[in-house]
Amino acid sequence: MELLQTRAALREWRRSVQTRLGFVPTMGALHEGHLSLVRRSLAENDRTVVSIFVNPRQFGANEDYHRYPRTLETDQRLLESLGVSVLFAPPEEEIYSSEDEALISMTRLSRLWCGTYRIGHFDGVTLVLTKLFHLVEPARAYFGEKDFQQLRIVEKMVEELFFPIQLVRVPTVREPDGLAMSSRNAYLSSRGRAQAVALYKTLQYIQTLLPKYRLVSDLLREAQQYLSERFPEVKLEYLAVVDEYSLEPMVHIGQTGSPRALIAAYVEGVRLIDNMPLHVPD
Ligand code: PAF
Repeated sequence: MELLQTRAALREWRRSVQTRLGFVPTMGALHEGHLSLVRRSLAENDRTVVSIFVNPRQFGANEDYHRYPRTLETDQRLLESLGVSVLFAPPEEEIYSSEDEALISMTRLSRLWCGTYRIGHFDGVTLVLTKLFHLVEPARAYFGEKDFQQLRIVEKMVEELFFPIQLVRVPTVREPDGLAMSSRNAYLSSRGRAQAVALYKTLQYIQTLLPKYRLVSDLLREAQQYLSERFPEVKLEYLAVVDEYSLEPMVHIGQTGSPRALIAAYVEGVRLIDNMPLHVPD
């Protein structure tokens, strides 16, 4: 595996390979969730490029950019053992210049849900991915369903900006108790870790309510009560049932569209997200 750290080196390597590439963009601190994306890409493409770049533009002023886990050497060893061709791990100045004025924004999808709490977050994601897609020129790019809103935004961006890239959705990888894998789980104490399963449990609870309740407002009321009684230390940011294509809130289960429950909550000050498609009983 080659470790490349400049745009010039990546471009040179890219020119030397004619095959179709799979691409897995990450911010490092790799866990099984990332590795499932990498394995899928390795299985479906001749060569796979992984990027590791903790993107400053997608962190708000009071967020965890500086303490975000950076584990390049371990990540590098893992990717090498899997058979990745190139790890692109540029320093910040290779991606952003001090005069960088570009803005890529999916105006509606990026303003919903996480976008209302993390102002500018998704604009940072779409900007860095635009740059990375241009540099890597992949045929396929792999994204986890764990960040479902991000996935939808990137799908929309690829469609609207005519990127010749096929996006591949990869299911969320969970710990044995159901907690979705995330680099931020590492911030939790063992007490917090026990509470963090609340997100998954609440989503599951919504599914169990479905035969009984069809109005989304009823579902959300019951689920919020469940969460606050069972997991009093978890601070809910939002809980919603949306149409998974438009991400607009649904009013009742059974209306046109595919329902998906989304949740964001704080555990010990750590912001966690999760989501689950809801199966509508006949
Ligand atoms: O999901 C992530 O890790 C990041 O948002 C991404 C897609 C690598 C862009 O920085």
